[in-house]
Amino acid sequence: MRLIATVAAMRETSRGARREGKTMAFVPTMGYLHRGHLALLKEAKKRADLVVASIFVNPTQFNESEDFSSYPREPERDRKLLEENGVDILFLPATEEVYPEGFQTTIDVTGLSEGLCGSSRPGHFSAVATVVAKLFNILRPDVALFGEKDYQQLALIRRMNADLNFGISIVGVPTVREHDGLAMSSRNAGLSPEERKAAPSLYRALSRGRKLFERGERKAEAIIGEAKGVIENPIELDYLEIRDSETLAKIEEISGEAAFAIAARLGKTRLIDNIILKEK
Ligand code: PAJ
Repeated sequence: MRLIATVAAMRETSRGARREGKTMAFVPTMGYLHRGHLALLKEAKKRADLVVASIFVNPTQFNESEDFSSYPREPERDRKLLEENGVDILFLPATEEVYPEGFQTTIDVTGLSEGLCGSSRPGHFSAVATVVAKLFNILRPDVALFGEKDYQQLALIRRMNADLNFGISIVGVPTVREHDGLAMSSRNAGLSPEERKAAPSLYRALSRGRKLFERGERKAEAIIGEAKGVIENPIELDYLEIRDSETLAKIEEISGEAAFAIAARLGKTRLIDNIILKEK
């Protein structure tokens, strides 16, 4: 696996690969890798000649209270995992490489950034769209892979890709879970034993709602109400919503396909999850 730390070298390497006619799949991450990230790499491997992963803990997408500095980091372990999982190139830029002095351009995917996680994380999605656009421009991959776990993020990257003509094939990868249903996340490491015990009730709530949906219920309010009852203490619910799976517009009655999404606080940790409700 090749390690690349500068924008210039990364650009040159991907140019070279393109010249040789090689296709490239890209998996952007913030490191502290788990099986969810590995599922993206596995899918990437199937879709291109070269797999490039990036690890960049993007300072601009953290609110102050979330504390960028306490985001878990384990670079040596990550490097080993990436190598074992067939990554060809690891892009590890320093913050000054990505944001040189005087940086002032941002991308706003306006509609899709509103509501859901956008409400409690002002500026977050603009920061995500901006850094992903920068990485897309540096690498110019053929394919880029993102997890369905971060559903709003995936939706807005698809939108940005179409709106700004990046021409990249955006692939969504299903959420990888722990045995008890908890969606894998780098943030799970911050849970206390008590919080960790309560955390799977987020997925249980979504699953309970799905059961009702499968029995024929189509009213969002009824499904949400049923799901709410499952959430355990000490979880503080941020939102539990049913939205159009593509536009993320609010819906009252489900027809076709909808995203059922949850966000909650457990102490200092904020967790999100979602499932798709689909008519058979
Ligand atoms: P990060 O949280 O490291 O996630 C990197 C990728 O892994 C994202 O596409 C995310 O959706 C996916 N992922 C995380 N948990 C997953 C799980 N349990 N199952 C499947 N996929 C999962 O998301 C980011 O980083 C950043 O916002 C980034 C896109 C890198 C921009 O900074």
